[in-house]
Amino acid sequence: TMNSEEEMYRPNFHFTPKENWMNDPNGMFFYNEYYHLYFQYYPEGNKWGPMHWGHAISTDMISWKEQPIAIYPDELGYIFSGSAVVDHNNSSGFGKDGAIPIVAMFTSHDPIKEKEKKTDVESQSIAYSLDEGLTWTKYRGNPVIKNQGDRDFRDPKVMWDEIREQWVMVLAAGQKTLFYSSTNLKDWQLLSEFGEGVGNHDGVWECPDLFPLPVDGSDEVKWVHLVSINPGGPNGGSATQYFIGDFDGKQFTMDPSFEKAINKRHDFWVDFGRDNYAGVTWSNVTTSSGGKLFMGWMSNWDYAQVVPTETWRSAMTIARELKLQKSDDGYVLTSLPVDELNQYRGKKYKKEAISVKGNVKLTDSKTVDLTKSEINFAIADIKNAGFKFTLSNSLGNELVFGYNSSTTNFYIERSKAGKTDFSEKFANETTTAPRTSNNTDLKGTILLDKTSIELFYDDGQTVMTEIFFPNAPFEMLSVDSEDNEFMLEHFEIHELNF
Ligand code: FRU
Repeated sequence: TMNSEEEMYRPNFHFTPKENWMNDPNGMFFYNEYYHLYFQYYPEGNKWGPMHWGHAISTDMISWKEQPIAIYPDELGYIFSGSAVVDHNNSSGFGKDGAIPIVAMFTSHDPIKEKEKKTDVESQSIAYSLDEGLTWTKYRGNPVIKNQGDRDFRDPKVMWDEIREQWVMVLAAGQKTLFYSSTNLKDWQLLSEFGEGVGNHDGVWECPDLFPLPVDGSDEVKWVHLVSINPGGPNGGSATQYFIGDFDGKQFTMDPSFEKAINKRHDFWVDFGRDNYAGVTWSNVTTSSGGKLFMGWMSNWDYAQVVPTETWRSAMTIARELKLQKSDDGYVLTSLPVDELNQYRGKKYKKEAISVKGNVKLTDSKTVDLTKSEINFAIADIKNAGFKFTLSNSLGNELVFGYNSSTTNFYIERSKAGKTDFSEKFANETTTAPRTSNNTDLKGTILLDKTSIELFYDDGQTVMTEIFFPNAPFEMLSVDSEDNEFMLEHFEIHELNF
């Protein structure tokens, strides 16, 4: 039998550990039919503590099977965030008897040095697995990169640079990112740094990523550099910014058009919602259309440790495909749920051409389960019409989200969505995100779970992810016209089979 916390708050289709505390996704790679996900994990409590790498595997990035803890703290300290690569050519020499080594690189965070207020608290270490990521052996030569003066010096993300045939790693150091290269994953050479005077610097830089992406509909390839920051997010607390440019094997430089845009707009975020942090990509997978696969931690350091669950704390976002679009305004990073989610579509309910004036009820839990569903909608002309969706239950909890046509902002309002009093920062402000697309039509995808909403507007140009804790499951969805009547051309909801 399930306790009420399980029933009320354990997500239907987002990864949570069975028990205890989780934060950042780590070490994602694909090998022999399995997607691997590691995560910052404290197995002895439901708040952050001495970090381990938890582990889960999946064949589709949607349904996960939790595995035994993969990496434990050692004499160098806690195991902070990092990445993993499949070393096909055994460049590291860790391979044995034909087994291909998987090599993980992570930050060793020394709690003793931290207590002594030393600055060389963080260094980089590696470990390898010869059994497809299940068990790991730490390298005797750790740390492979000693601290070089920055107190915050962490979260190495390794990739194979095909063009230069080298391993490239990026990590966060204070208010910048550092780029390194290696031929054997053990000896690392500092190449360059990035970040001074660009992007947001209102918090600590963490969990960077770097990868090439083809620009949709062209032969062009650009490099994307992700940098998480806490605090400093567009709606408070933790969030992930991005930069688009080029990487010549040594240095990342912003594309001139992107540089112009970021200097003007300052708002290039992977997700504007308050609950998508420290996200990074699977190191060795590109999709059939050239996209990269991404997952984030669906929480925010502003309140992550006090959200109202006891057995476990935190979930991951849905896995997403990242792509690049180029418009007149320049390059934009888009994210959408991975195609694999479509396999879970079940019962479907569809309506065409609903003229929305005032309040229109769209559906309720007698038709589809609103705690596990995917909604796709299109609105014909958004120029002078705002819209407001309301998700509600019989207890009067309401989650409100929509678009304000005068500010051209999307928004989410969770202050009446259930429990909020566990943290002053949880629902103190309405979350907003500027619309970047100029299309008159607006398309959106909404993913609803028991305790989360993920909004993907304009083919993933603007994304908002937020969690909430209603006192009873949401069971009704309606839409309101705000200023002018509008045409909901298309409204389609799929119950997801979980
Ligand atoms: C980001 C972060 C990382 C660090 C990890 C520790 O959320 O602070 O920079 O490696 O969490 O758990």
